[in-house]
Amino acid sequence: MVDMKVNLCGITMENPVMAASGTFGYGYEFAELYDINILGSFSFKGTTLEPRFGNPTPRIAECEAGLINSIGLQNPGVDAVINKELPTLGKVFNKPVMANVGGSSVEDYGKVAGMMDGCENIGWIEVNVSCPNVHDGGMAFGTDPAVVQEVTETVKASTGKPVIIKLSPNVTDITAIARACERGGADGVSLVNTMLGMRIDLKTGKPIIANKMGGFSGSAIFPVALRMVYQVYEAVDMPIVGIGGISTAEQVIEMMMAGATAVQIGAANLVNPYVCRDIINDLPDVMAKYGISSLSEITGGAH
Ligand code: FUM
Repeated sequence: MVDMKVNLCGITMENPVMAASGTFGYGYEFAELYDINILGSFSFKGTTLEPRFGNPTPRIAECEAGLINSIGLQNPGVDAVINKELPTLGKVFNKPVMANVGGSSVEDYGKVAGMMDGCENIGWIEVNVSCPNVHDGGMAFGTDPAVVQEVTETVKASTGKPVIIKLSPNVTDITAIARACERGGADGVSLVNTMLGMRIDLKTGKPIIANKMGGFSGSAIFPVALRMVYQVYEAVDMPIVGIGGISTAEQVIEMMMAGATAVQIGAANLVNPYVCRDIINDLPDVMAKYGISSLSEITGGAH
């Protein structure tokens, strides 16, 4: 019998597998396919103070080993999330969920996090300072350590829930950003969000994505994400959620050995909507194969 339990910022999860924000809707859509209570948890679509229509189309470009997206944080706004999406989710999911929060200003992040503070089914606040697809906010906040620290402090002052800052890989030194989160009082970090990329349509000679560039994710970025998790583990003393190109139980274990306490599965959900369930089902056998009896003991084992 293997033990898959992990503890993320004071909340025990049955297993470390979460679905990543933007690839799993508000969860109940996937509950039509399987019982999503098998998940450790998931992070719902980035939520802002006001509703957002998102970017012009095309918003997606397929690539050899992943895809580029430029959704533009389309979401119905925090009021609708609290009054409609979360109650609907509550009918099919009985675990704490992670709330991904976006903002156009530092104050916005604090307001949205504060409004979510009273939501019982929200376990963690994941602060998205890494979306590459919006002009006001997003990645612009996540590439300057001073601003990251300010956003972290503001969100921490607005909520009693654990605050996890989602980091961008589009920086020279991700450890400097992670340290800024720690100075700001973050409870954890999640990394990485997407890498800025683009494709050009040979027929038109123009960028495929209407916004020209977007965030690249998928299996191609796994080694980059793993390297950054490894570096951040050595730089800070707080839990890490490892994200980037994971699609197998073996990669979950690899990411945990690099330093992750839990992981998020992103683009793979768009290829196989059952991938999180499949990974969780595969984990016991893969753990047994490598002589792992308890997942919580392997975090950072590669150091
Ligand atoms: O465009 C988007 O909505 C993507 C968000 C993100 O990468 O955080």
